[in-house]
Amino acid sequence: MEIRKVGVIGCGLMGSGIAQTCAQAGYETIVREVAQDFLDKGMARIQGAWDMMLQKGKINEEQARDYKNHLRGTLDTKDLADCDLVIEAVIENMEEKLRLFPALDNALKPEALILSNTSSLNITQMGAVTKRADKVCGLHFFNPAPVMKLVEIVRTISTSDETVETVRAFAKSLGKTPVVAKDTAGFIVNFLLIPYLLAAIRMYENGLASKEDIDTAMKLGCGYPMGPLTLLDYVGLDTTLWAAEALYEEFKEPLYAPSPLLRRMVNSGMLGRKSGRGFYEY
Ligand code: 3HC
Repeated sequence: MEIRKVGVIGCGLMGSGIAQTCAQAGYETIVREVAQDFLDKGMARIQGAWDMMLQKGKINEEQARDYKNHLRGTLDTKDLADCDLVIEAVIENMEEKLRLFPALDNALKPEALILSNTSSLNITQMGAVTKRADKVCGLHFFNPAPVMKLVEIVRTISTSDETVETVRAFAKSLGKTPVVAKDTAGFIVNFLLIPYLLAAIRMYENGLASKEDIDTAMKLGCGYPMGPLTLLDYVGLDTTLWAAEALYEEFKEPLYAPSPLLRRMVNSGMLGRKSGRGFYEY
């Protein structure tokens, strides 16, 4: 199946990065939000990235214009009716996804694929509330989506071989390297990453080292681009909490249990970079 037009649901941190990536790859891209101010904020984030690339000389004026011409925002799901592939990147809440998937199923043409960018929720369940479970799978991007080279294709027990191959070719056309994982909480990356991040929070919470030293240790000791507490702020503490909860719910292993500090920080609106405060201030 040839993909020409791509829809993205949600223009938050991940949705805007995914929409930016698709527009840059030359796809006619339409991103849907639920309110104009969310859409404006997301579109401004994308424009900011293109301005930065222009300033750095990574793209020229014509390319910047071309990218922009490939991207459009909307508040109406009906505008996605002729998309060949839609990627949802809404809040990590199962009830929200289970409302969205039947709505997309009704709005989209029958042959369109519906992909979820969820980091740990059950995609099989999302497919099951549509009449096209064979055309539903995960396509999990990493933050910042335009930069990080990996995507996880998440195959449910109902996803067809044809869907996996179409999504694999699509991911490569975005300049990404796809890996395929089964639909179990955390897939590959978060199954390994979340316990590491939770351990770093526990270490800080128990006063075993300062936050700066924990970050410096993992940056310089392991060659990671960011220390775990900086990465937590970057990914978002709310996103991490949801991922940890989903992993804990699935495996019931203490290493996935969110620590009291993480929950208290999210309850206090300390979400990391996006709220201006997390383990550090921004
Ligand atoms: N669009 C286009 N380019 C962008 C961009 C954007 N939105 N954001 C950054 N870039 C480019 C910059 O222009 C720069 O390009 P250059 O090297 O050619 O000049 C390059 O990316 C690096 O950016 P910076 O120079 O600003 O900063 P750093 O060199 O410090 O790199 C980083 C930033 C890429 C974020 C790096 O620190 C990193 O890789 N951090 C780890 C990120 C990570 O682990 N992400 C995964 C999180 S887990 C996840 O997302 C899963 C979820 O489910 C929890």
